[in-house]
Amino acid sequence: MKAEPKRMGLALVLLAALTVPVLAGAARQPILDGYAAAAKAGDAAFAGFSAARGETLFQTKFAAGDAETPACTSCHTDNPGGTGRTRAGKDIAPMAVSKTPDRYTDREKVEKWFGRNCKGVLGRECTALEKGDFITFMASK
Ligand code: HEC
Repeated sequence: MKAEPKRMGLALVLLAALTVPVLAGAARQPILDGYAAAAKAGDAAFAGFSAARGETLFQTKFAAGDAETPACTSCHTDNPGGTGRTRAGKDIAPMAVSKTPDRYTDREKVEKWFGRNCKGVLGRECTALEKGDFITFMASK
């Protein structure tokens, strides 16, 4: 049988489109599990993450951080599916997992940016509960 490179190419593209989100979800879960264990250790009454609390964290304007960036939305826009902007004017891919499927799948990257951005916005580290809520919210968008 003659190979059909075009069709095979299309099949591979489709396969990748279907596989990437599944693999990304598998990589995201251990990160969430780690935050859940830490949240539980801090509060035995911890009953799971909340997308609603994550949305509040995302939208709230805080007074204790950098005056130029009072909220996560200062850079990420108030639409989770929207393209954000750094202070230097560079684009930031949407935070919503439906738009950027590989979000929150690299533990080092996740911790680095929570560290930097929570200090800039809240003036302190985010708690494990806040991090889990935030990712849960963005994974629902
Ligand atoms: C000063 C601008 C700025 C603010 C304010 C900001 N971020 Fe970000 N954030 C960035 C940039 C830049 C990146 C890295 C680029 C990228 O991941 O596309 C990033 C990445 C992240 C990531 C890593 C995402 C991943 O792919 O793993 C997380 C988590 C995050 N931000 C959370 C927050 C939270 C929570 C807040 C509010 C408390 C916030 N950010 C506020 C600029 C900002």
